[in-house]
Amino acid sequence: MSRKIWVFDTTLRDGEQVPGAKLNLYEKLEVAKQLKKLQVDIIEAGFPSSSAGDFNAVQEIAKQIGQNSNIMITALARAVKGDIDAVYESVRHAQNPLIHIVLGTSNVHVEKKFGKSKQQVLDLGVEAVRYAKTLLPEVQYSTEDASRADFEYLWSTIEAMVKAGATMINVPDTVGFAEPEQFGSMIYKINDRLKNLNDQVLLSVHCHNDLGMATANTLAAIKNGADKVECTVNGIGERAGNAALEEVVMALKTRPEVYGAHTDIVTTEIMNTSRMVSGFMGLDVQVNKAITGENAFAHSSGIHQDGLIKARETYEIINPADIGLDDMELVLTARSGRHAVKTMFAKLGMNQFTDEEFEVIFAEFLTLADTKKEVYDHDLYVIVENFYKQR
Ligand code: KIV
Ligand code: ZN
Repeated sequence: MSRKIWVFDTTLRDGEQVPGAKLNLYEKLEVAKQLKKLQVDIIEAGFPSSSAGDFNAVQEIAKQIGQNSNIMITALARAVKGDIDAVYESVRHAQNPLIHIVLGTSNVHVEKKFGKSKQQVLDLGVEAVRYAKTLLPEVQYSTEDASRADFEYLWSTIEAMVKAGATMINVPDTVGFAEPEQFGSMIYKINDRLKNLNDQVLLSVHCHNDLGMATANTLAAIKNGADKVECTVNGIGERAGNAALEEVVMALKTRPEVYGAHTDIVTTEIMNTSRMVSGFMGLDVQVNKAITGENAFAHSSGIHQDGLIKARETYEIINPADIGLDDMELVLTARSGRHAVKTMFAKLGMNQFTDEEFEVIFAEFLTLADTKKEVYDHDLYVIVENFYKQR
């Protein structure tokens, strides 16, 4: 039976940490509305203690998007009372508010960043969770830099936070250090112990992309028992970014036999969301980016185009309509064959040529295609116009 995986979107928090990607209130509200349409389970709307503007944006999202809706609204707090209060005050207007607390677990965080002992850091976390629980029933604890932490210390932290009342445990690969097999077995071990301790607690992962493995690590975690994934639209986020929501979601949808899990994401809203986030944040999507890149469904070689026209699945594992794109995209180049060129003419309503006429037109097409990278629709009109003029 397929397991439901919760999708926690942090485009408005981790994603907004990208230099230059700051959004104004109107833009944040539009993105949050679109995330609701996409049907993410949780929106992390910001880091309210960082500025009055961020506090206000989280509060407006909680009021305008989170009221009368099941969608959970959260925001980030360090393990200090002031931050937790700011999160509580901003998210409490939502029907389903969640406080998210983060605190380091690796030696470098404990010793170098905090200059404390492991026990002291653990105690700070417990105090923070206990305090947050006096404000709201739902509290997530993030064991920052978990993938570089000493495992038994990581587990004792998780155990203590669950006993203090945390309802979600998030295991971040904060610096993108993890490797899928290792990360998967770490999640397996945590899940095994966690489900024995309290099977109501959700186990979550948050993977960064420093080695290009955020999606792979997230999927490995799902295979090994994670209930929830944290990700961003287009994979934006601190440094090399976070696991891309669209990649994780479409991997689960495309390979159910591998993952045995699904999300509630309305996949036909993926492209709309991707374009909105890219436009508002001024962050172009890499052209060959999986799922949302401009070339993700563009086919340019003649062999591929011919196969695709005969049967889509020869070169397409995802129907573009599933992510909200109109149709397959054939890119006409000097490598395109007769089949693709004929199809493109037909799409433009020009399908009346005899075989002989088409051979002349195709020769003209190749002459032009040799002089440029791509042949566009308007070039096809000009070819046909010239063809009729010369007769
Ligand atoms: O990367 C990280 O560890 C984070 C936490 C706040 C979850 O962003
Ligand atoms: Zn992060």
